[in-house]
Amino acid sequence: MKLKISNQEIQDQEVKNWWNDEKTKKWHHFTYDQNNYLSGHLILRQKKVLDFLKNLNLPESAKILELGCGAGQTAQKICELGFEYVGIDISKHLCDESEKKCEKYVKLGKASFLNQSIEKEYLLKDNDFDVCVIIGSMQYVGNLEKCFSEIRRTLKKDSYIIVCQANMYALLDLIYPRRLILRLIYFIFNEDFLISPSFKSMLCDSKLKNIFKRFENSKLMNTKFMTKGEDNWKYKIKKRMFSYRRLKNILGYFNFKIINKTGATFFFPKKNIFYWFWNSLDLILQKLLDLRILPFLKSFSDNIIIVAKKK
Ligand SMILES: C[S@@+](CC[C@H](N)C(=O)[O-])C[C@H]1O[C@@H](n2cnc3c(N)ncnc32)[C@H](O)[C@@H]1O
Repeated sequence: MKLKISNQEIQDQEVKNWWNDEKTKKWHHFTYDQNNYLSGHLILRQKKVLDFLKNLNLPESAKILELGCGAGQTAQKICELGFEYVGIDISKHLCDESEKKCEKYVKLGKASFLNQSIEKEYLLKDNDFDVCVIIGSMQYVGNLEKCFSEIRRTLKKDSYIIVCQANMYALLDLIYPRRLILRLIYFIFNEDFLISPSFKSMLCDSKLKNIFKRFENSKLMNTKFMTKGEDNWKYKIKKRMFSYRRLKNILGYFNFKIINKTGATFFFPKKNIFYWFWNSLDLILQKLLDLRILPFLKSFSDNIIIVAKKK
């Protein structure tokens, strides 16, 4: 896996622009809303992260660092557990929202938020934190080396990291033909970064680009069939992708020893006539995973969650 990308400066700027864009402002109102069917998987992954955190049996004086804390939904829950908390996020409006949510704890001096990049030196002391929590923000990190060297610097000896990231091989994506083909490309060419699920992108943005890039502007390549699913996002961000194996290798590379792992959610269906089928299947798979009857299922869940100890 590439630990550092070549266009880091563009990435820094684009990540900053995107997460400070007005569009991302409204998200915190519905991302963890129980009534929004799309929130179920975020709520479950957060619950599993918090369960892992509670099971570490930390003293109340423990200090938790969260990277990419977003609108503070997890920050609030960590503060409610009684721990001291510091959150870092590149988005000014999300930091403000987090502070609002955790106002009580901020006033007590038990929570604080830093509006900065998690790829730059953290304005924090060495050996100060008991746990570092990362939920869904590692895909934006261009320079994993810098990020992990800061994590290791700020973590105490015998501390932990809890990482929760979307899975590039989620079952949910393997049941649609186009997305399945894309996953095969990810697998065969060991792709590091997200590719949009259009046939054009699969040919011109994957490692196959050596052959097909020259046809990028051809008529055939720009037919509706070839461009269906294309991503016209204006921000030029290289989003990393993670599988269970990839996360395990990254943590191992940066000297963390895995002590527990699981997955969260397989399907989060819309309320239509197939809802009961997909929802029941999701519950069954989730149970088989939680009861450790089929632990390998975590490699196909929507999110993968790992707890590891600093070596
Ligand atoms: C998908 S959101 C996840 C938010 C939150 N952890 C949650 O689970 O709800 C990703 C977050 O990471 C933050 N982020 C992305 N890249 C960052 C960077 N380089 N430095 C700091 N924060 C970053 C974004 O601003 C955003 O709040």
